[in-house]
Amino acid sequence: MTQASAPAARAAELRRRIDDANHRYYVLDDPDLPDAEYDRLLRELEAIETEHPELRTPDSPTTRVGSAPSGRFAQVQHAAPMLSLGNAFSDDEVREFAARIEKETGDGDPAFSLEPKLDGLAISLRYEGGAFVRGATRGDGTTGEDVTANLRTVRSIPLRLRGDVPPVIEVRGEVYMPRAGFERYNAWALEHGEKTMANPRNGAAGSLRQLDPRITAQRPLAFYAYALGEVELGDAMPSLPPTHSQTLAWLRTLGFPVSPEVDCGRGAEALLAYYRRIGELRDTLPYDIDGVVYKLDRYDQQRAMGFVSRAPRWALAHKFPAQEEMTVVESIEVNVGRTGAVTPWVLMQPVQVGGVTVTRATLHNADQVARLDVRNGDTVIVRRAGDVIPEVVRVVEERRPLDKRGRPLHPPYQLPTQCPVCGSAVEREDGEVVARCSGGLFCPAQRVQALFHFASRRAMDIDGLGERLIAALVEFDCVRSVADLYRLGVDDFVAMKQRADALAEGEVDVSEPGQGKAKPRSGKIATRWAENLVAGIDASRNSSLERVLYALGIPDVGESTAKTLARHFGALDPIMAADEETLRQVPDIGPVVAAHIANFFAEAHNREVIAALRAAGVHWTEGAPQRAADGPLAGQTVVLTGGLASMSRDEAGARLEALGAKVSGSVSKKTSFVVAGEAAGSKLAKAQELGVEVWDEDKLLDYLAAAAQ
Ligand code: IVH
Repeated sequence: MTQASAPAARAAELRRRIDDANHRYYVLDDPDLPDAEYDRLLRELEAIETEHPELRTPDSPTTRVGSAPSGRFAQVQHAAPMLSLGNAFSDDEVREFAARIEKETGDGDPAFSLEPKLDGLAISLRYEGGAFVRGATRGDGTTGEDVTANLRTVRSIPLRLRGDVPPVIEVRGEVYMPRAGFERYNAWALEHGEKTMANPRNGAAGSLRQLDPRITAQRPLAFYAYALGEVELGDAMPSLPPTHSQTLAWLRTLGFPVSPEVDCGRGAEALLAYYRRIGELRDTLPYDIDGVVYKLDRYDQQRAMGFVSRAPRWALAHKFPAQEEMTVVESIEVNVGRTGAVTPWVLMQPVQVGGVTVTRATLHNADQVARLDVRNGDTVIVRRAGDVIPEVVRVVEERRPLDKRGRPLHPPYQLPTQCPVCGSAVEREDGEVVARCSGGLFCPAQRVQALFHFASRRAMDIDGLGERLIAALVEFDCVRSVADLYRLGVDDFVAMKQRADALAEGEVDVSEPGQGKAKPRSGKIATRWAENLVAGIDASRNSSLERVLYALGIPDVGESTAKTLARHFGALDPIMAADEETLRQVPDIGPVVAAHIANFFAEAHNREVIAALRAAGVHWTEGAPQRAADGPLAGQTVVLTGGLASMSRDEAGARLEALGAKVSGSVSKKTSFVVAGEAAGSKLAKAQELGVEVWDEDKLLDYLAAAAQ
C-alpha cells in the first residue's frame, strides 16, 4: 500500500463504520456502538479529512456538522407533486372512506397500510446513484425550498443508500423533533434566556429553515420515510413493489427509517382499532403525532381510486384531538416546591386538550412569564403532550382585555416578593432562573425535603428516619420544623405508626380484640422500633458545626462549602451575623452562594428554628476560626486562583490559613500575594495589573515545606 492510499483507505473504512452505526441506530433501532466510540470514529475521520482535504466526499458523515451559510434557499420544482391528505374526525367518516373504496375497487376486503401521522414537516429527498443530492420542503406541493445543506445534518437521513440502489429515487417523509430533544432544547433556552420553541413541530420547521446549517446541526431533528416520489428503476430491480407496505419495507433496506408503529389491516373496524391503539400509545410515543393515516395498500387499486384536487382518494388522515387549544387565564398563581422553588402557573377556564380537560398550565419561571407577558384575563394557547405538564405556549395578544382608553386592563405580572405558603421572603439571585422561598427550615411546602435532608447520613445522620416516615410525620402534623424532631418520644412514634398502619389498610383492624390497637406482638416491635429511632435522634444532638451547617439545607451549600464556612468562622453565630460582603471574602464562596447564605440567616423564621434546635439540646463543637494569629503569614491576605497539581485549592487555602494567612476570593490592592495555578484567568490578570506579587505552585510548595521545618 502506498503512503497516500493509507489515509484514503482508513477514511473509507471509517465512513463505512459510521454509516453502519447510524443505520443500526436509526433504522434498525439496534445500536451496536457506544456513543463515545462513535464520536471517536467521527473525530478520527474529521482529522483525516482536515489533513487531506482531497479525501473529503460529499456524502461523508462529517458533513453532518453543517456547512457555512449560503444566503437564501433556492426553489425546487418537485418532479412529482407532494400531495396533502383528506381529513376525518369521526368513526363514521372512516367507515364511509372504507365503504367507498370497497365499492369502487370491487374488492370486498382491501388491505390498508396503517401509519402514525407524524407532526413535523413534509420533505422530499432525492438520491442519484445512491447519493443524497437534494432535499426540499413541501412548499405549495409543486415548488419547495432547497434545504439540502440543513437536511444533511439530520443523522437519520442516509447520505448514501445501501444495497441495490435505483439510479434515481425520491423519498418523502417527515422531519420531526423528538419530544425529549424538544424538552431538552427548551430547558436550555429557558436557562439561557433564548426564545423557546412553541412545540416540536414549530421546532422542526424553524430548525430546518435556518440559513446557517451549523445551527440546524445542533437541533435534535429526526426523519421517518412514508412515501415515494419520482423513481427511475435500474436493471437490478425492473419494477416497484406492488404495494405501499412492501415499498416501506424496501425503503428500510435502502437505509431509510420507517416508523415502527406502521401496520397493515383490512376493513373499517381494523382501521378504527388501529386509531384507538395508537391513540392510547400517543402520550408514550417519543414524538408528537396528530392522528393516523390509512392508505390503500395495492398500487393498482390506488390508481383506480385516483385524486380529488390535491389529495388522493385512496388515503385518509384520521385526526386525534388537538394537543394545543385556546382558553382564558382566570388568575396567575405560584406554587412553592419541595426545595422552595417558586413556580408560576395559570388557572384557566377548563379546556379539552389532547382529550383531557385541563385547568392549569405551567409558566415555568419568572423569565418565561416576562417573555410570554401573560396577564390576567389573557387568551392563551396551552399545550399538553405526553406526560409533560400542560404549559402556556403564547398569548393571543389581539384578545387581551383593554380598558376604555384601549390600554391593557391588567399590568404585567410580577412574582410575589413573599412566599404565599409561609410569608418568608422570595429571593432570586442575579443570573439565577429560579426564584426561591428563603424560609427553608420553616416553610410547610419545604418541610418534607428539609427534614429528609436534615436527617440524611451526611447531615445529622439520624438512623431510620426515612422519607416515608418523614412524610407521615408531616402529614399527621407531628413535626413542623426540624427542631420538632427532638421533642418526639417513643409514645409519639408508636401512636403515629398505628395511625399510619390503620390508614394504609383503609380501615381500622377489628379482627383482633382491642379494636384499632396494634396487635400485642406488633406493638412490641413498634415500641422497639420507636426506641431505636428516638435513640438515633438523641445521638444526633451531638454534632459538628460543618454537619449542622450542611443539614440546614441552605441553597447551594453542600458539604464542602459547609466545611469551608466552619473552618473559616469557627462558630455559627459569626456566620449568622455575616453579611454578603463578608461571606464573599471567604475563599471559594462566590457571590450567589454568599447571597443564599445571607438571605437564609436573614430570614427570621429560620433563626427561630435554629434557636429551637439549640434549646432542644442540639450542640456542636465550636472553636476559634482556624487562622493562626501568630503564624508567619499573620496579617497577610492571599488569593488562590487556577488549578494546582499537588493539592486541591481548598487544601492549599487551609494550609496557608494554618500559617496565619487570610485567604480571600478576590484580588485587590490589599492582597499580599496571589497563588496562580494552571489556567489561572482574570484574578491573575488583575494581580499583574495591580502589581501584586504572584506565586506559582513550585514557590508555594517550597514555602510550605520551609514553614513546616
Ligand atoms: S402521506 C399522498 N403519510 O401529513 C399522501 N403523510 O396532510 C402524502 N404526514 O404533508 C402524504 N405522517 O406532512 C403521509 N404517514 C404519513 C404521514 C403524513 C404525516 C403529513 C405530511 C403531509 C400531511 C398531509
